[in-house]
Amino acid sequence: MCGIVGYIGSRQAGPLLVEGLERLSYRGYDSAGIAVMDQAQKIGVCKTKGKVERLKEMVDKQPLAGKIGIGHTRWATHGEPSDQNAHPHTDVQGEIAVVHNGIIENHIQLRQYLEQYGEVFVSQTDTEVIAHLLHHLYDGNMLHTLQKAIGMLEGSYALVVLCSREPDALYCVRNDNPLVMGFCNGEGFAASDVTAMLSHTRNVLFLKDKEMAVLSRTGVKLFDVYGNEIEQHFVRVDWNLSDAQKGGYPHYMLKEIFEQPEALQKTIASRNVQGDFSWFPFSQENAGKISKITIAACGTAYHAAVMGKYFIEELAHIPVNAEIASEYRYRHLIFDENELFIAVSQSGETADTLAALRRAKQKGISVLAICNAVGSSIAREAGKSNTLYTYAGPEIAVASTKAYLTQAVLMLMIAVTLGQMRGRLDTQRAHQLRESLEQLPQKAEETLGAFDQIQRLCDKLYQKKHVFFIGREKDWALSMEAALKLKEVSYIFSEAYAAGELKHGPLALLEDGQLVVAVLTQKRLAEKTINNLQEALSRGAKVVAVCTKSVLQQLAELNTERIVIPDMDEISAVLLAAIPLQMFAYCMAVARGCDVDQPRNLAKSVTVE
Ligand code: F6R
Repeated sequence: MCGIVGYIGSRQAGPLLVEGLERLSYRGYDSAGIAVMDQAQKIGVCKTKGKVERLKEMVDKQPLAGKIGIGHTRWATHGEPSDQNAHPHTDVQGEIAVVHNGIIENHIQLRQYLEQYGEVFVSQTDTEVIAHLLHHLYDGNMLHTLQKAIGMLEGSYALVVLCSREPDALYCVRNDNPLVMGFCNGEGFAASDVTAMLSHTRNVLFLKDKEMAVLSRTGVKLFDVYGNEIEQHFVRVDWNLSDAQKGGYPHYMLKEIFEQPEALQKTIASRNVQGDFSWFPFSQENAGKISKITIAACGTAYHAAVMGKYFIEELAHIPVNAEIASEYRYRHLIFDENELFIAVSQSGETADTLAALRRAKQKGISVLAICNAVGSSIAREAGKSNTLYTYAGPEIAVASTKAYLTQAVLMLMIAVTLGQMRGRLDTQRAHQLRESLEQLPQKAEETLGAFDQIQRLCDKLYQKKHVFFIGREKDWALSMEAALKLKEVSYIFSEAYAAGELKHGPLALLEDGQLVVAVLTQKRLAEKTINNLQEALSRGAKVVAVCTKSVLQQLAELNTERIVIPDMDEISAVLLAAIPLQMFAYCMAVARGCDVDQPRNLAKSVTVE
């Protein structure tokens, strides 16, 4: 989704802003632009529809001189992708330039109001009202002006403002949209995502809602919504630049798939699931009281939530609802005072998941967040002691891989912990599960060895137009994720079905050559899914089975392609099966010539509803 960068310091801002935008380009965008203020306090703007490379060519030809500036990658919401609609937007005099992420919900009313005062609009965007509003309200002090403006703006925003009358500062504010400040050796950085400033500093400050920041060459000053200066809250980010670069892989997605053993290791090793539960936010007494659990999330994170449902119900014997956050936030709900709500989000910024978490909090029920991005909105909303981080490191590819696997494994760890706290798991079974978790990174490493086989397979299959993924129970939960992964990166229509549902309708679509991918990691259910595969094969389907070594024997003479994963405890083997299915999506997309890291119409972090 849209990206913001800002710079003030002693170097030329233009190249640094473009570099920051390049680092944010993984988020998905359709236009890009920068505004730089020169020594004569004139603001120059360069913006274009299309890629950051195009912007770079333009500023290489006609550099914008100056040591302070702002930049933006836009993902169109109001108004088509065009040069005119690209950010930064300015007031008519070109004295105030603004970049904005989010949506101004009352932009139509504000536009009508401002037009009465002679402000002239040149774009179709909601953002442009902010530039005119700031101009209209300007009283010689941008901080006061911003404070007045945010009292009139409804919606979500991360804003960085450049003002020619105040040439030594950038003015920043956020509401429901991430904005980070960084400061190092006389240089200040602003960005919507910490990856944009990692090459300059790892000491960062995540703005809270309605906090305003003034970024200058002497540091960052922070103000509350009433304009009172408040204490700063810098944190150190562990991620480094090489984590956020491709490191020799052709795509981030592939790099991130191959980083999974390490990501699993970090997530698992940081918590003890037997004996010492000090990492778990709830005491034994409180864990014992939980009457039901709701896990809400979007997209891939929702699929990790569905997996979590199976783990928790099986091991801790608590009823669990996995909910799509955009549904949960509005639908009629029956809350229980002893309910636990869990939000799952890689970015920690997904608007629907954040809203679902807020709804649960308003009802006064206990909450827990599972996040990857430290200091993100969801982590802050849940609170430090009620947030569990997945240690996947920065996930740059739009298609989530390592974040999914670490979310799912954390779900398993929660299930094992709750199971013991509630007396549902005996010591021996808990011990087996702990060992199985400890083996997971190594087994994941072995599973990566299937890459060449999958690549060869995809070279034969990439022209398929439709794919069904089937499985039962946890294998079905994974099938949903596999179908999403394939459709988002390869644009192949794919659908997941609980295997037993095939004969209740979808079989009508099965014809000669239809590709069916079956997930078979649970021995006790394999026979049933194999029966469903027989139904598909007898109608001419082409079948690929992703199975454990022990299920392989059950497939016997069946005419299928086989991708075999190592054997593991039956409950955790499904986690390993995620890896070949991610590789399958990746290889199909590469074979079809798709832009794997930045699939069309998608954004990495969906900060609008
Ligand atoms: C798909 C994907 C998305 C995200 C979803 C939620 O590969 O990445 O479906 O999972 O937008 O994002 P987070 O986890 O950041 O809340």
